[in-house]
Order: sequence, then C-alpha cells, then structure tokens
Amino acid sequence: MRSRRPATPPSSPDDLHGLIRVAAFFRMWPVPAVLAWISAWAVFVFVRLVVETFEWSQVWAVLAGVATGAVWTLLVASRWRRLIVLGGFPLSVVLVAGSDVPAWTWALAAVPLWLLYPKGAWRDAPLYPTPGNALEGLAWGWPGDPPRRILDAGCGLGHGLSALHEQWPRAELHGIEWSGMWAWLARRRCPFATITRGDMWAADWSAYDLVYVFQRPESMEHAWDKANAEMRPGTWLVSLEFNVPADIRRVPDYQLQSRPGKPVLAWRMGPASIADSGRR
Ligand SMILES: C[S@@+](CC[C@H](N)C(=O)[O-])C[C@H]1O[C@@H](n2cnc3c(N)ncnc32)[C@H](O)[C@@H]1O
Repeated sequence: MRSRRPATPPSSPDDLHGLIRVAAFFRMWPVPAVLAWISAWAVFVFVRLVVETFEWSQVWAVLAGVATGAVWTLLVASRWRRLIVLGGFPLSVVLVAGSDVPAWTWALAAVPLWLLYPKGAWRDAPLYPTPGNALEGLAWGWPGDPPRRILDAGCGLGHGLSALHEQWPRAELHGIEWSGMWAWLARRRCPFATITRGDMWAADWSAYDLVYVFQRPESMEHAWDKANAEMRPGTWLVSLEFNVPADIRRVPDYQLQSRPGKPVLAWRMGPASIADSGRR
C-alpha cells in the first residue's frame, strides 16, 4: 500500500503566515488605491456593457464604480488616503469625459509620480513640508545641550532643515531623502546642509545628536526602534506631530506646541529610554 503524505491542516502556521502576508500586501500604500481605481474602472465597463440598453446606463455604471472604490477604503486608516482611494475613480471619469484624450493616456500621469515617489518612499509619508513656525521656540526651551549634528530623516524639499537651521544655526545639518528629485531641489534650497539621496531606514543614525522625523503615525514604531538601537545615550529623537504607538510606554521628555495641531515631541535616548520602552 502506498503511504500517503498527511495533508497540511488548513489552519497550519504556514497558512496563517501566508494569509497575514497577503493581508499586509493589500494594506500597503498605495496598493489599495491602485487596486480601487482599477477595479472601479473594471466594474464601470462591465456594468455599462450589461445595462447598455437601459436609460441612465452610464450613471449606474459610474455609481457601481464609486461603490467599488468605497469598499477599498475599508483597508485604509488615514482620512486623506481614504479620500484618494474614493476620489480617484470619479476624478478620472470627469477628466476622461471632459476631454478628447483617450483614457489610457491617464496612465502616463503615473510616470512623473513615479519619478517623484520611487517605490521605497510610499510606505512612509509623501511630501508634506514642516510648516514655517512649527519648530519656533524649540532651541529656547531645549532641555539638553544644543545638538551639534542633526539629521532630518526624509528631508523632502528641506523645510524641516530650514526650521532646524533657524533654531540651531551652528549645528551641522544633514538630510536624507528617498526621492532623487526632492533631494536635488533640497540641495538647492538648503546650501547650509548636506543632503544625500537614500533610504532613511538603511542609514546609520548613530553619528547624530538629534534625528528629526516628520513621517506618518505608522512610521513611528520603526523610528523608535531604530533610534533606540542606534542612537547614543543622551541624544534625541524628535517627531513633528506623531507620537510613538500606545504600546510603547514612553512619554516624551520634552514637548512644545508652537503651531496648533503640530506638537513637537522629543525623546532622550539612553538606558531609561530602553527600560521604559517595553511593550504592554
Ligand atoms: C512629510 S515629508 C517631510 C519632509 C521634511 N522632513 C519636512 O519636514 O519638511 C516626508 C518625506 O519623507 C520622504 N521619505 C519617505 N520614506 C522615505 C525613506 N524610506 N527614506 C528617505 N526618505 C523617505 C518622502 O519622500 C517625503 O519627502
């Protein structure tokens, strides 16, 4: 009798990990947006074909497309991203309907977008500059020694670097930016700083007295772990607007709010920081 290999139970850890990976992929920005737009257009074309003979077929098809987009918003947490997911299809319908340009040419719009936002920059924040007065007063009330070497991790066009330069004009400023185009422009805007094109997560943060991040809430856990792993005791991680996740029991060592809705949160690295940073 031939021995049969036991079938893997459907709920084995491998299956579970596979499912988690698939779920994570669908939530990874901008995957839900792209899939929402593609599926909305597919549903639009399908419904239009099916109900072609009826009056208002076009309207039903657009509504079906919008409803398809709405389903995808369930995978997205941020309000802005939900708007992008939901608004992409109706906007493209308006643009296509209001021009003689064939629908496929809108895909070309993705090329400049790709140049500005190469794949690695998608998971963290897109360009959203530090507002002019957000860091005002930071150096004045600073509880430690003035930082001598500062890194803006994901420096965009250099607005954060300018604000930091205003606070600590004698500090050596560095910026790292994933988008080559933004890094090039930031070099022109900020001749006082050294700006490199690269991945802030791959860069070494150990040489800096202060690392400044203005990313997304979801980036903060990674930033916190990296800062704790690489930065020296007594140095600082500073975040504009976003706190570390609630399961990291660590209140900021210093806070400032010069601009409503844009708190500056600062944590001092060191043994205390590591001891307190245990997850709940
Ligand atoms: C919200 S903007 C902040 C820009 C700048 N720090 C400021 O405050 O004005 C975030 C920037 O981080 C960049 N970015 C996102 N992920 C990155 C990564 N892995 N490495 C380097 N830059 C990244 C984005 O391209 C974007 O320019």
